[in-house]
Amino acid sequence: MNRVKPFLKWAGGKTQLLDSINSKFPYNEDFVYIEPFVGSGAVLFWVLNNYPNLKQAIINDINTDLINSYKTIKTDVESLIIILQQLENDYHKLANNLELKKVYYYSKRTIFNDRTSDQVTQAALFIFLNRTCFNGLYRVNKNNGFNVPIGSYKKPKICDANNLKTVSKILAKVEILNEDFEATIDYATKNTVFYFDPPYKPLSETSSFNSYAKNSFDDNEQIRLKQFLDKLNLLGYKWILSNSDVKNNNSANNFFDDLYKEYNINRVLAKRSINSNASKRGVLTELLITNQ
Ligand SMILES: C[S@@+](CC[C@H](N)C(=O)[O-])C[C@H]1O[C@@H](n2cnc3c(N)ncnc32)[C@H](O)[C@@H]1O
Repeated sequence: MNRVKPFLKWAGGKTQLLDSINSKFPYNEDFVYIEPFVGSGAVLFWVLNNYPNLKQAIINDINTDLINSYKTIKTDVESLIIILQQLENDYHKLANNLELKKVYYYSKRTIFNDRTSDQVTQAALFIFLNRTCFNGLYRVNKNNGFNVPIGSYKKPKICDANNLKTVSKILAKVEILNEDFEATIDYATKNTVFYFDPPYKPLSETSSFNSYAKNSFDDNEQIRLKQFLDKLNLLGYKWILSNSDVKNNNSANNFFDDLYKEYNINRVLAKRSINSNASKRGVLTELLITNQ
């Protein structure tokens, strides 16, 4: 099968951390893979490519629109491709007319936010907006209205039909959930490895960039996650967690070092790819914490 890649751009894509994450996986063993904050699935797809014998994977995210697109690709990829191809054709025809492109983009955004279209159309609009919006950002207001402005790409690839078909095939062995992260515990069996990539704790008050879902993921949520990881640890499941390294901005900030003091804390070089301010796209460290 062709190698499969994420069908979305998503904040916090983990491509650059894959080698470090891989080194924590069980060697030469069957395992079940669970990813409770899947986002664009950079790590999921990497795992599916590299462990073709993996028995089962379970993915979850609280974002219903995101999960609807995974489910649609899994069950009805041909219908999705037809709609997405039409969106791409329409958009590319307008490539040289920014005003008309804007009208098109914002009208599709309004239709998406009405959430009255059928599941396949909603999924197509979600992917269209992700590909054409500013920096592939996902941000919603209090009413769950997607509010990212149009991006400046002239002719972005919107319908990558081959990749969507490959994703569809590979999702056959993936169970897809739309719950809070704690619900994934019910799916753990012997030899389960969890990979957690929660919304990052912002490095500073102004870099608050973690409003992927209606409810923001604040420090209390980070602590609730830690308590959940303690539970998994007691039950004998392996887990890997990534998060921002708040020491990048303030070396005296011990939030994660204190919270995870009984586990293995690794600092890994990582480049932030999505940042509206180009000068801030520098090299930073991120945390990779494990219980093994
Ligand atoms: C940092 S992103 C994941 C990035 C992803 N791993 C990637 O490669 O692009 C965090 C994800 O957590 C989800 N999320 C936020 N709160 C959640 C919760 N309580 N339970 C499950 N998912 C949640 C968000 O919708 C978002 O997709």
